[in-house]
Order: sequence, then C-alpha cells, then structure tokens
Amino acid sequence: PPDISLTAVKAHLTQLQSIATANGGNRAHGRPGYLASANYVKNLLDGAGFTTTLQSFTYNGATGYNVIADWPGGDPNDVLMVGAHLDSVTAGPGINDNGTGSAAILETALEVARQGLAPSKHLRFAWWGAEELGLRGSQYYVNNLPAAERSKVKGYLNFDMVGSPNPGYFVYDGDNSDGVGSGPGPAGSAQLEATLQAYFTSIGVPTRGTDFDGRSDYGPFINVGIPAGGTFTGAEGIKSSAQATLWGGTAGQAFDPCYHRACDTISNVSDTALDRNADAIAYAVWTIATATPPA
Ligand code: PHE
Ligand code: ZN
Ligand code: ZN
Ligand code: ZN
Ligand code: CA
Repeated sequence: PPDISLTAVKAHLTQLQSIATANGGNRAHGRPGYLASANYVKNLLDGAGFTTTLQSFTYNGATGYNVIADWPGGDPNDVLMVGAHLDSVTAGPGINDNGTGSAAILETALEVARQGLAPSKHLRFAWWGAEELGLRGSQYYVNNLPAAERSKVKGYLNFDMVGSPNPGYFVYDGDNSDGVGSGPGPAGSAQLEATLQAYFTSIGVPTRGTDFDGRSDYGPFINVGIPAGGTFTGAEGIKSSAQATLWGGTAGQAFDPCYHRACDTISNVSDTALDRNADAIAYAVWTIATATPPA
C-alpha cells in the first residue's frame, strides 16, 4: 500500500478552509460553502478518471448533496465503499470534523487513480451531505439504493474526525470485543476492524475500541446488515491519564476542544494523527480491495 502524502492531504484542508472563509465561515448543509466543497471534491475526482455522481436530496427545505465516485473495474458484485461526511456545522469551518476524513479519503482515491490500481473488488468512494443534521445524506443513499445494488456492497469504511489535536487512536469496535457499549455489528465488521488495527500495529501505535453505536455515517449501513469499520481520533470526550500515557497529549482535555466550534480551523489538526490515519485508510483500501480471492 502507498504512503499517502500528508502535504497533499493538508492542501485539500487548506482549500476547504478557504471555501468556508469565502462563504460565511462554514460548509454547512444548505449553505453555499457546502456546494463549493462538493464541487471541489467532484472536480478532482472527475479529472482523475472516476465516474462521479452528485446525488441531491432535500432536508429541512434545503438541497443537500452526496458525491459518489466509482473507480472503473473490479467485481461489480463485490463492492467496497469508503466514505466521509463533507458538511460542517454552521458554527465553523469543520476542518477536523470532517475536513480531515474528507481530505484523507480524497487523497486515497486520487492515489488509486495515479497508480492505476486494478483491484479485484469494485471501489466506490462517497462524501456525504448533512451528516450533522442526523446522517441525512448517507441515510438517503442507503434508502435509495435498490435492493440488488445494496446486496453487492460487501463493506463500508467510514472516517469522521481523523486529525483531532489531542488525539486518540480509536478503531470502531465492530465485534464489541471489549464488551462495552453497542454491537457486535454485521459479521464482516470484525475483519474490517482487524485490518485497520493491523496497520496501527505495524507502525507501533496502540489502538483502542470505540463504541459501534452508529453515531456517524456507517449507521445506515450497519442497520441494513452491511459490515462496516473505521477510525476516529476523538471529539468532545476527555482524554484520561491512562490514554495520555498511551498516546501522549494532554490528560483532562478534550480530544478536540474545538469540536463543533468556530475554532475548528486549519490550526485545529494534529498532523501526526492525520498522517497515520491517511496511511491506515490506504492500507485498508489496498489490502481489502486487492485481496485475491476477494475476501
Ligand atoms: N459524528 C460525530 C460528528 O460529526 C462525530 C463522531 C464520529 C462521534 C465518530 C463519535 C464517533 O459530530
Ligand atoms: Zn460533527
Ligand atoms: Zn463528524
Ligand atoms: Zn473489537
Ligand atoms: Ca464495544
């Protein structure tokens, strides 16, 4: 798997910050900064050779958009999806939440194209609208996917907040192996979890499980039985002293003190956490999508 360029991921974040700044300080559903963000992502994917769709929906009297990008080829009956929400809250530019996930999967998709990857699975990337209003874009996508198409989606990887400034290294606990909180999820979720964990083990970074409760866009997928996985570096939760010993950073402070605030800007990112998570995403995409025979 490739080493994803942190510089390239951060260049996308700089563009998302500029879009917010030029559009009233946010990239929220129904605001011009959202559509500008969607067009930014779509234009790069179109130029790289993806087949893209801007899927529109209505929520709260405003039009929302999902950007869906298919990489041509692979087994059409064995689809791996990778997604991130592209909208922010109205309070701020949403750079950690979720410029980071959006930019990391975008750069992974662009690297698929640069390498001319010919995976055994069919790859589909998604940038969701209106997550902050209740997973509206991802729910719309799943609701409107015909049953025959739904059954072809064998896994979904979700990335929502992967550069928190006081980071933890969390992997969705799809098998509920820690016995805490929700789950287990659909059976194949355990394998997606194990693949992401394997990357962090390979770089010597310990991980912990985080509750598989559907608090992001994987929720609509697991609710229809599609296995899912993902990583997360923490939101409003407070880093414990044990977690600070494990990962460094500041005990007694939130993983992201600017969560859902105006200060969630380009300055609100741990480059180390973002770099590690972007590389974990590429590792999982390459490992899962190129597995032979298709896993
Ligand atoms: N979905 C939450 C948000 O966008 C963030 C979150 C992601 C929380 C993953 C928990 C787990 O605000
Ligand atoms: Zn949020
Ligand atoms: Zn989020
Ligand atoms: Zn687990
Ligand atoms: Ca658990």
